[in-house]
Amino acid sequence: MEAFLEFLRSRRSIRRFQGREVPQDLLLKVLDTARWAPSSKNRQPWEFIVVRRKEILVKMSRLSPGARPLQGASAAVVVVVDPDKAPITHLIDGALVSLYIQLAAHAVGLGTVWIEALKIADGLREILGIPEGLIPVSVIALGFPAESPPPRPRKSLQELLHFELYGRRGPDGL
Ligand SMILES: Cc1cc2nc3c(=O)[nH]c(=O)nc-3n(C[C@H](O)[C@H](O)[C@H](O)COP(=O)(O)O)c2cc1C
Repeated sequence: MEAFLEFLRSRRSIRRFQGREVPQDLLLKVLDTARWAPSSKNRQPWEFIVVRRKEILVKMSRLSPGARPLQGASAAVVVVVDPDKAPITHLIDGALVSLYIQLAAHAVGLGTVWIEALKIADGLREILGIPEGLIPVSVIALGFPAESPPPRPRKSLQELLHFELYGRRGPDGL
């Protein structure tokens, strides 16, 4: 149990990758695991676009400053969701499966970074031929890590916690 908690704490966003290819079967294993993510009413309103071609990764990397890590990535997985399949929760469901991709990749030794996709949705649609009705929720850039960044700071648990009522900061009502 401690090992799994430490696994969760040890994931970092990785933005620099080795040139080494990610084997296709390893990438498919990650996606095969990620599809076990929870979704509202188990609707699974997601699909995955695997991008490996360098020229496409580079094109996507130019869509925003935040997308730059795609330039050196070995591959990317673009998670698209269908609002018709889950009208209220499609973005949440898509975020959950995206995180599962990140965690499954971490488990097999791959580094990932989530590239914000909603603000570059039109560019992604054009580059990847995504139909108008589907929303790209995330682009998960991945590859074998070429960096091991220190943890980014987190808010303390104390700052986040309320007991029973909002504003009650201690279990004794303090
Ligand atoms: C919804 C979302 C959008 C993000 N967009 C970007 C992005 O466009 N480019 C980027 O380099 N990192 C992006 N990130 C990664 C965050 O910057 C990173 O998760 C955060 O700083 C915490 O660092 P850590 O993942 O190493 O713990 C995004 C993360 C999330 C969850």
